[in-house]
Amino acid sequence: MHFTPFSTGKLALLALSSSILAQPTVEKRSLIIDLDLAKSFGAVAGTSLNNTGATSITGDCGTCPGSTITGFPPGKCSGTSSANDTPGCNAEATCITAYNNARAQQPTSALGNADLGGLTFAPGVYTFPGQDAKLTGNVTIDGKSDPKGQWIFLINNTFTAAANSRVVTINGAQACHIYFVAAEAATVGEASVMQGNILAYNTITVSNAASNQGIFCALNGTLTLNNNSITAQPNCTS
Ligand SMILES: *[C@@H]1O[C@H](CO)[C@@H](O)[C@H](O)[C@H]1NC(C)=O
Ligand SMILES: *[C@@H]1O[C@H](CO)[C@@H](O)[C@H](O)[C@H]1NC(C)=O
Ligand SMILES: *[C@@H]1O[C@H](CO)[C@@H](O)[C@H](O)[C@H]1NC(C)=O
Ligand SMILES: *[C@@H]1O[C@H](CO)[C@@H](O)[C@H](O)[C@H]1NC(C)=O
Ligand SMILES: *[C@@H]1O[C@H](CO)[C@@H](O)[C@H](O)[C@H]1NC(C)=O
Repeated sequence: MHFTPFSTGKLALLALSSSILAQPTVEKRSLIIDLDLAKSFGAVAGTSLNNTGATSITGDCGTCPGSTITGFPPGKCSGTSSANDTPGCNAEATCITAYNNARAQQPTSALGNADLGGLTFAPGVYTFPGQDAKLTGNVTIDGKSDPKGQWIFLINNTFTAAANSRVVTINGAQACHIYFVAAEAATVGEASVMQGNILAYNTITVSNAASNQGIFCALNGTLTLNNNSITAQPNCTS
């Protein structure tokens, strides 16, 4: 009988200490990554932007310090194409800053699995058990009704979205606040439907008929596109 009040007190203490422990995590998570001068861009590459087929980019396109942009037309860039000029170099520099800021974030969850497929994510900074991460199938990004919610997936090597993968947003999650940050290359498989800013330190290869609402930044490599639909996200609310 006397165990009851003892256990209740212990539980209250546990609840109190876990809420205290949770505070620094929330504080560190609150640094919002901002794409700033790169917001109007759909495609940015450090060396070259190579397109094949009927790619449609709603937004700007650019390279810096490389100056090679090929395959436009048949590709279309609705905004400005900036080959190693001021807007292109501002976009590249902004992508690098966003990449570095993302990598400096304190992770809020260490995932047990390298595959995001089939999982649902609240806002947070996520790491993976190995060097690579992938998306096979659907990942659900849950905004929890907070329009400022931000998701950062920190990948130490490559990120690979398999063919027909999909990022599904619910409860007010905004594509402009989703970041896939790969320290090496990123690959998006055929007909995948992505939502988010894909920042890779090296190359990014996007396969036929894949789409993205968000930017592709291939920071120090080539961005290879093939009949893709890309929509920049300059008007993020909050
Ligand atoms: C991109 O295109 C340029 C110009 O055609 C070419 O020199 C370069 O090898 C291509 N890069 C890749 C990775 O395909
Ligand atoms: C990923 O890189 C970070 C920072 O360098 C390191 O702390 C972490 O242990 C690495 N993760 C894996 C799975 O190697
Ligand atoms: C993935 O999402 C799409 C669109 O929301 C849906 O039609 C499809 O059934 C989902 N696939 C799986 C495996 O859940
Ligand atoms: C180009 O992508 C669209 C989807 O956006 C697809 O319907 C079409 O078949 C693709 N074209 C080719 C030549 O594969
Ligand atoms: C990657 O690109 C950035 C910005 O263009 C540059 O400052 C950095 O030196 C590059 N890193 C490598 C390893 O080339």
